[in-house]
Amino acid sequence: MAEQYFSRKPSAPHRALEFTAVLRGRPFTFGTDSAVFSRREVDAGTRLLIDALAVGPSESLLDLGCGYGPIGVAVAATVQGGRVVMTDVNRRAVALSRKNAEANRVRVEVREGELFAPVEGLAFDHIASNPPIRAGKAVVHGIVEGAPAHLLEGGSLWLVARTQQGAPSLMRKMEEVFGNAEVVSRGGGFRVLRSTRPGNP
Ligand SMILES: C[S@@+](CC[C@H](N)C(=O)[O-])C[C@H]1O[C@@H](n2cnc3c(N)ncnc32)[C@H](O)[C@@H]1O
Repeated sequence: MAEQYFSRKPSAPHRALEFTAVLRGRPFTFGTDSAVFSRREVDAGTRLLIDALAVGPSESLLDLGCGYGPIGVAVAATVQGGRVVMTDVNRRAVALSRKNAEANRVRVEVREGELFAPVEGLAFDHIASNPPIRAGKAVVHGIVEGAPAHLLEGGSLWLVARTQQGAPSLMRKMEEVFGNAEVVSRGGGFRVLRSTRPGNP
């Protein structure tokens, strides 16, 4: 069986690939490899999330579980003056994200580590993730539970999941943690969900 895409230090033989994809109206080149999520093309759920993400000029984004980098790279290239931090537990994914940011001439920071550990003490306007459903509920719920402490007041957590597998229970969890959750986009069997951290009254 192929190595899981969320291995920390994948040992599968390299099978490098490169493809181009148009995201947010702009062409990008992405290098990918074995043991990395969706190595042949930008995942359909990821695309829906990228299209839905409303990041304003100078706002900050954390792309948690960045894989080879499509979310963070596309946002960094199309938002003026913002800050993009990308993290992943998979060392191969982190290396690819760095290369892909460079290849597409965007400025991002890519950090390696578990969940929010690489962004200790930082807070963002937005956190976005196509969460690693296969890694299990503890990891996926860990993203939701850890998000409020890493969001600025009024900041949003954006997640994408399959309508039939994951989205309903994920939305319940978001509602429980944030007190709000909405479907902002749907298509191709996926839903993009958003919760917002309330500001002080
Ligand atoms: C479904 S993939 C999405 C990858 C990329 N964002 C995309 O849309 O193509 C989820 C990513 O989460 C990463 N991941 C799994 N467990 C993690 C954890 N505990 N902390 C951080 N990232 C994790 C995986 O390595 C994988 O790259």
